[in-house]
Amino acid sequence: MNCFALSGGRRLLGEITVQGSKNSALPLIAACLLNKGKCVIHDCPDLSDVRAAVDILNCLGCDASFSDGTVICNSSFADKHIIPEYLMHKMRSSVIFLGSMISTLKKAILSYPGGCEIGARPIDIHIESLKKLGVDILECENHLTCITNGIIPERIVLPFPSVGATENIMLVAAVSNGQTIIENAAKEPEIVDLQGFLNSMGADITGAETGRIIINGVGTLRDTEYKVIPDRIAAATFMCAALATDGEIVLNNVRCDHLDAVTNALRKSGAKIQENKSWMSIKRGKYFSGIGSLETEVYPAFPTDAQPALTACLAVADGKTVLREKIFTDRFRHVPYMNNMGADIKVFGDTAEINGVSELKGDMLLAHELRGGAALVIAGLCAKGQSTVGNINFIDRGYESLEKTFRSLGADIQRI
Ligand code: EPZ
Repeated sequence: MNCFALSGGRRLLGEITVQGSKNSALPLIAACLLNKGKCVIHDCPDLSDVRAAVDILNCLGCDASFSDGTVICNSSFADKHIIPEYLMHKMRSSVIFLGSMISTLKKAILSYPGGCEIGARPIDIHIESLKKLGVDILECENHLTCITNGIIPERIVLPFPSVGATENIMLVAAVSNGQTIIENAAKEPEIVDLQGFLNSMGADITGAETGRIIINGVGTLRDTEYKVIPDRIAAATFMCAALATDGEIVLNNVRCDHLDAVTNALRKSGAKIQENKSWMSIKRGKYFSGIGSLETEVYPAFPTDAQPALTACLAVADGKTVLREKIFTDRFRHVPYMNNMGADIKVFGDTAEINGVSELKGDMLLAHELRGGAALVIAGLCAKGQSTVGNINFIDRGYESLEKTFRSLGADIQRI
């Protein structure tokens, strides 16, 4: 089993370029099925999830490849409608293929998706929405069989602005006969990017940034070439790591407007953040303190995916922070490891009370999910002495060579 071995206590200093967004790239890759032609997507991060998504395209009969950050897919001959179980289990986003498979192939057979263990992750909102759009869905022994004779455009009001369900509805309705409206839709930047990608193929979709998405179905889509947005969660992770280690870094390839909730929270801790159009710099200011209270919520509020990194960062700030996790039910699995390192974090249900300590000490750590794993790396980087972080396959799902990025900033971290 691979793990990271790291020796903490070095300030992170220097300049890095942030990878393209994982959570944008994955639905875009699924959308490649829709145009029955060629798609070229640049700036896709080199991650196991991205490679799994490309494998799924090939399983469905596409001719897809990934190299040097670019996915190229020709979906002209896609004709298979089954995603094998081992690919479904590799990642949660495999469920996003449902929308494009139904739209293009009129049939999809898949098992329930895998993904990080961060609490219950049902897909009931996806299923109910697709049923409303005229898809027959049979759920049987962990498998879903979905068939349609044609999409029936509808007005769909989501009970919760689920990112994945919003993406699936957009994918199903983009090529259809009539107007579909999604009310209470997710409005994360990744949704806006999917709208941009589909429109670049000739779709007619508006409102992705508003929570009310209007999809005027079109008959066919054309070839396209597109660039994925920068990864706001990777950027937030590096910002937290810089503060935790009392470092000073410059991040290139960022969309500062996508990071407002993160920069606001970190500024409360005393961080000095300079923002420009596509880069930002961050370091500690005159003080480095807890931030009072904060809740994770849907965009534009503070993102759940950045909560573990923020926890690691504030574990070594002066004073108290109360963090409430409102999106996922089990996203504090990194906390017991941090407490073994000397942190003082108490978890009560969905809330963590962090009382900052002056120092952490190195320890043997185990990632249980992607973002919690990255948070443990941050804790190790600012701790005194040696740490190891195991189960780094979780971390590889979302960060492109995390150890190389941290090494380029002066960290002592090796993959062994
Ligand atoms: C996306 O997951 C992201 N994944 C997650 O990032 C992110 O944490 C999440 O959105 C929230 O921002 C990808 O984009 C690949 P949701 P998704 O549907 O689409 C409940 C990471 O670390 N829900 O918005 O699965 C659900 O249980 C990952 O990069 C239902 O109840 O998120 C959760 O509590 C982790 N029924 C909440 O909604 C449903 O049918 C948010 O889920 C769907 C969701």
